Amino acid sequence: MSVQKNISLLPYNSFHIQASAAEFSTVKSVEELMNLLNGPAKLSGLILGGGSNVLFTKNVDGLVLKNEIKGMDEVKEDASHIYVRAGAGENWHAFVEYTLGRNWGGLENLSLIPGSVGAAPIQNIGAYGVELRDVFYELDAYDRIEKKVFTFGLNDCQFGYRDSIFKSSGKGRYVILHVTFVLHKNPVLNTHYGAIQDELRKMGVHSPTIQDVSRAVIKIRRSKLPDPAELGNAGSFFKNPVVDQKTFLFLSERYPEMPAYPHEEQSVKLAAGWLIEQCGWKGYRKGDAGVHKNQALVLVNYGKATGSEIFSLSEQILQSVQQKFGIQLEREVNVF
Ligand code: EPU
Repeated sequence: MSVQKNISLLPYNSFHIQASAAEFSTVKSVEELMNLLNGPAKLSGLILGGGSNVLFTKNVDGLVLKNEIKGMDEVKEDASHIYVRAGAGENWHAFVEYTLGRNWGGLENLSLIPGSVGAAPIQNIGAYGVELRDVFYELDAYDRIEKKVFTFGLNDCQFGYRDSIFKSSGKGRYVILHVTFVLHKNPVLNTHYGAIQDELRKMGVHSPTIQDVSRAVIKIRRSKLPDPAELGNAGSFFKNPVVDQKTFLFLSERYPEMPAYPHEEQSVKLAAGWLIEQCGWKGYRKGDAGVHKNQALVLVNYGKATGSEIFSLSEQILQSVQQKFGIQLEREVNVF
C-alpha cells in the first residue's frame, strides 16, 4: 500500500476521461483501508470500484482510493440455496462467471454489467428483469463516522430502482467491503423479458439453462451497448423516469407508441432512451462527445472528450426532454 502523487485517473474510469488525482492508493484489505482513512492524507471522498459509473468533470483534489478487496467464497448453504461472499474489488462479470461455472442460479441476467462487486449494491444494478436486490443477502461496510464495520441486511440497504442508502442518506459514509449473495442450487429462470425470449429463440434454445440465459444476455448487451474497452461510456447515463398515472395518460394519448412499464404504487416507468431519441439525439456527435447510435440512453466519448463536454451534452438533453415531454430526467452516473 503506497500513496502515489498526481496520478492520471484515465485507466480507472470507463468513460476514458482524462482527470488527475492529487493522491491515489489501492486498498486490498480492511486494515489498509482503515490506515489510509485515519492517516494524514486528505481524503477526496472518492472511492473507486470499477469506475464504470463515474464522470470526472475536474481533477480530484485529495486522496482517491481504489477498492481492490478480493475473494470469492461460499459461506453457508441449505437444501436449496448457496450463500456466496465476494470481495468488493472483484470484477462483477468475473464473479457472475464464477457462479455460473458452479451452476448456481441468480446472476445470469446480470451478465456482462461493467464494474465491480462493491459498486453493484450502491445503485442496485439491474438488467433484463432482475435487480441486485433479488439475489442480495447481506454486505459489510466500513462506516467512516463510527469507524467500525457494520453488516447491512436487505432492508437496511433501502434498495430502490437504481438506488440504495449508499447513494442517498449514506452517500460517502460507507465503504463496501464484501457482498454476500443468496443463489439457487436448482436455478429458477427469469426469462419473461421479451428480448431474452427473442434471443433464446434465435439461438434455437427450447429448454434454457442459466448458461444459455447468460449467453443470450451477453448477445443482447453486445448488440445494443458499446463495450467500454472500445468506446468510452458509463452505461445508461440517465435513469428511466417514473411518472404518475395522470402524466402517463396525458403523454400516451399524444404518443400511443411510447414504451411504458408498470412501476411501484400505481406509477409508470417510461423509457428515457425513447424520450431522448424522440428529441433527435440518437447518434448525435459534437467533437468527441456523443449519444450512442443504438441506445440513446448511453453517452459516449469517441476519444478525447472532456468530462465537461459530456456533462454539457447531458444538460442539453435534459433541457430538450423537459421541453418536449415536460419530464425531468435524472442522471444515473455519479458526476465529480
Ligand atoms: N428505446 C428507444 N430508443 C433508444 C433506446 C431505447 O426507443 O435509443 C426503447 C426500446 O425500444 C425499448 C425501451 O426504450 O422499447 C427500453 O429499452 P431497453 O430495453 O434497451 O432498456 P432501457 O430501459 O433503455 C434499462 C437499463 C439498462 C438495462 C436495460 C435492460 C436503466 C437506466 N437502464 O435500459 O441498464 O441493461 O434496461 O434491462 O434502467 C445501465 O443501467 O447502465 C444499463 C445499461
